[in-house]
Amino acid sequence: MNKWIKQLQQAETGTILVTGAAGFIGFHTAKALLELGKKILGLDSLSDYYDVNLKKDRVRYLEERYPENFSFVKAEVQDRVAVSKLWKEAHPKITHVVHLAAQAGVRYSLENPYSYVDTNVMGNVVLLEMARHHGPVENFVYASTSSVYGANEKMPFSEEDTTDRPMALYAATKKCDELMAESYSHLFRIPTIGLRFFSVYGPWGRPDMALYIFTKNILEGKPITVFNHGEMQRDFTYVDDIVEGVVAALARPVKDDGKSVPHRIYNLGNSNQEVLADYIKLIEKYAGRKAEIDYVGMQPGDIPASLSDITRARKELDFSPKVRIEEGVRNFVDWFKDYHKVG
Ligand SMILES: NC(=O)c1ccc[n+]([C@@H]2O[C@H](COP(=O)([O-])OP(=O)(O)OC[C@H]3O[C@@H](n4cnc5c(N)ncnc54)[C@H](O)[C@@H]3O)[C@@H](O)[C@H]2O)c1
Repeated sequence: MNKWIKQLQQAETGTILVTGAAGFIGFHTAKALLELGKKILGLDSLSDYYDVNLKKDRVRYLEERYPENFSFVKAEVQDRVAVSKLWKEAHPKITHVVHLAAQAGVRYSLENPYSYVDTNVMGNVVLLEMARHHGPVENFVYASTSSVYGANEKMPFSEEDTTDRPMALYAATKKCDELMAESYSHLFRIPTIGLRFFSVYGPWGRPDMALYIFTKNILEGKPITVFNHGEMQRDFTYVDDIVEGVVAALARPVKDDGKSVPHRIYNLGNSNQEVLADYIKLIEKYAGRKAEIDYVGMQPGDIPASLSDITRARKELDFSPKVRIEEGVRNFVDWFKDYHKVG
């Protein structure tokens, strides 16, 4: 086990607030923390951006298996009255925050920009304000994204690279979260950690993401649309590896030496670049059917390639992604068939 995670397991902690607990990464993170014996308060609005039943099933899974330690509240992160109430009523007191709730998705931010600002910008301020007024918290970990690297052409992406050229509003709101965390850490000495996730995939994954859509269409014998004529390159990261990084970050708050700001950013990726065409071949292999492919151009707002430099996370969080793409895609396709009772 990762040495930081072991420390967290042994440490006395209060309630850990996990926002976005009905979401893909939030569900897996809550589950991992529950397996360590932690008390989790899950918060999620169950937004209808994608199938709400999948979100409800994730919550039900946690409620059924961890009735003692898991509780769930349906609320919007930007609703400061509701969040303040649940924070004050939490028992034991909230000592850690894992803020994963977001309006995710690059493409949808062209259609519904307000929901990105409401959730990602206002929601983030509300949580930081709660940590400020109802804290102290031992650690505040929040999700950022590889999309903040935007038009950056230098590969691999490192935390030191410029991130002031976002190519979509989604990325701009996430960059905003990083800046807000920096200012709150500076002013109120709240220890914060921002995690830039790189294309996360795995069981219980998101229906708006390529792996889910491709698997579904291939199994149903429907064509799939592939952007940038199949030349997209992505650093796909398996969800268990991401969760290990999230929990290790939670276990290792930035120490406040009174001089530097107790805020740190980490890339969490697999640090391997996959060509989309190869990814599709793996889905075909495990779905047992050939894909019918419509190649189209680049989508506005999307980046053609991503690759993480994870030196910092390796060194400071003991982060070490283990799951290879072949195994990860197989696990996803197996879950998909089982969950949807298909194939
Ligand atoms: N999945 C990825 O590849 C990826 C990559 C980079 C960053 N991220 C970030 O990681 C985090 C988790 O992403 P995910 O893939 O699990 O997405 P997800 O959409 O499955 O989970 C987000 C959850 O937040 C909830 N939510 C949305 N608006 C809310 C609101 N106003 N109040 C409360 N809850 C709200 C949704 O209902 C959902 O369950 C997000 O912050 C996302 O931006 C994800």
